[in-house]
Amino acid sequence: MKPEEVDAAGLLDRQAAWLEHYQPGLRITEQGSVVSVGDGITWMSGLPSAAMEDILAFEDGSRAMVFDLTEEMVGAVLLHETEALTAGTAVHLAHRALSIPVGDSLLGRVIDPLGRPLDRGPEPEPGAWRRLETRSPAIMARDLVHDPLYTGIKVIDTLIPIGKGQRQLLIGDEGLGRSSLALDTIINQRGKDVYCVYVLIGQKRSTVINTIETLRSYGALEYTTVLVAEASALPGLQHLAPFAGCAVAEYWMQQGRDTLVVYDDLATHAKTYRELSLLLRRPPGREAYPGDIFSVHARLLERATCFNAAHGGGSMTALPIVETKQGEIATYIPTNLISITDGQVYLDHNLFVGGFRPAIDISKSVSRIGGQAQHSRIKDEAGRMKLDYLQFLELEVFTRFGARLEASMEIAIRRGRVLREILKQDRLTPLSIEFQMAWLVAYNDGLFDDTEPADIRAHLSTLEKQVNRSGLTLDNPREQWSEAVSGWLGLQPRK
Ligand SMILES: Nc1ncnc2c1ncn2[C@@H]1O[C@H](COP(=O)(O)OP(=O)(O)OP(=O)(O)O)[C@@H](O)[C@H]1O
Ligand SMILES: [Mg+2]
Repeated sequence: MKPEEVDAAGLLDRQAAWLEHYQPGLRITEQGSVVSVGDGITWMSGLPSAAMEDILAFEDGSRAMVFDLTEEMVGAVLLHETEALTAGTAVHLAHRALSIPVGDSLLGRVIDPLGRPLDRGPEPEPGAWRRLETRSPAIMARDLVHDPLYTGIKVIDTLIPIGKGQRQLLIGDEGLGRSSLALDTIINQRGKDVYCVYVLIGQKRSTVINTIETLRSYGALEYTTVLVAEASALPGLQHLAPFAGCAVAEYWMQQGRDTLVVYDDLATHAKTYRELSLLLRRPPGREAYPGDIFSVHARLLERATCFNAAHGGGSMTALPIVETKQGEIATYIPTNLISITDGQVYLDHNLFVGGFRPAIDISKSVSRIGGQAQHSRIKDEAGRMKLDYLQFLELEVFTRFGARLEASMEIAIRRGRVLREILKQDRLTPLSIEFQMAWLVAYNDGLFDDTEPADIRAHLSTLEKQVNRSGLTLDNPREQWSEAVSGWLGLQPRK
């Protein structure tokens, strides 16, 4: 007998066995059909047991998620669409929760919110699968924020410090450097054992490419996953992107790792959600956003936290970005996010055009919990510096009227101008915390009192070179720092 004949015989045997045990009976499967499709959504009839957020599988291979239920019809947002999807296409419930592959194989990769590679690489080898929507960690599993997360940005690390597990909003008008702050922070995690996820929502392709290339050229892609739903992606995917990014980081957090997630940006995310909700005829509320937009963002950001030691001690720090129009922070989405997060870094248009970059407005920025995590040394020094700076900002207003000032005020203003020069920082130049200590000590010791603002840059680069070589750490005594800094700069402390 030839081999295929053996096979054929085997098959016949199996069929015979199956027929012998076959029980005729009623099998109920639910099949709906597409009524209309377009703008990234679809309406279907005939799926009576569909529930919110169920996944639907269409016979042409398309996928969608239930987003609205009416008595006769089911509305869904498309997650994958083929050309063949039209009215009349059959559809059934997939009986699967929406999940994404997670694990170390995602490092260095660019993926979409369903985990499909966008970098022409192979499918990521999943360490596990994780649902996009999960409950946020229980209070008893959480710890207070206690470890600093250094951004490498002078103004932030000293005046608006961030801790691991904190949610810090980056807010400001377009083009003022919000994404740059987030990128700098990721680049600064190099060698610090923090896994990062950069979520790009509804961004132009050029921005997406720039972001990936910047991360790659600074060696930051190897510990980062870039999750992209660009402007041309289906709105349903844009809506899911932050949840998918969160799930990727959450997996590492539960393994006891420190993670950082950037959501760039949630104003676009809210607009996409509004678009989908209006198309699916959900009732609009304030600014035409659906009433649950607050809970959508709160649910997302509540998942960022810091676990206590009994739960592995992992953390997820979240840097959501939001855009304002003409500096107005009192509009709906920004106020929501300000109230959900643990603080905000506010970027100001006038500071930006005035050449103070990063254009962070200290008076409108706050970190509600990061101070607890700040190293006591930095906290002491930064506290003294901050008083000077706030006083200077107030005094400077008077100088605009050409008023004659007392000598002491003149000094305060001169020191303030120097300080402002120190706080300027180019993008993509994150600095070590030891360097921050060095300049704080130099400033507080008055070494720069007679320095012209124009000479500050040179002094700072000397400090940076020397401090990296010196091996001094924050644990060294203050006097040692004082002496070292004065020696490096060749400047004497104020008497
Ligand atoms: N610290 C800085 N020093 C000098 N220029 C900066 C600095 N930070 C940002 N910029 C410049 O500001 C511009 C906008 O930066 P960025 O793209 O980070 O801002 P954004 O707020 O994310 O803008 P968008 O609205 O396009 O998302 C860029 O051209 C960048 O080079
Ligand atoms: Mg940006």
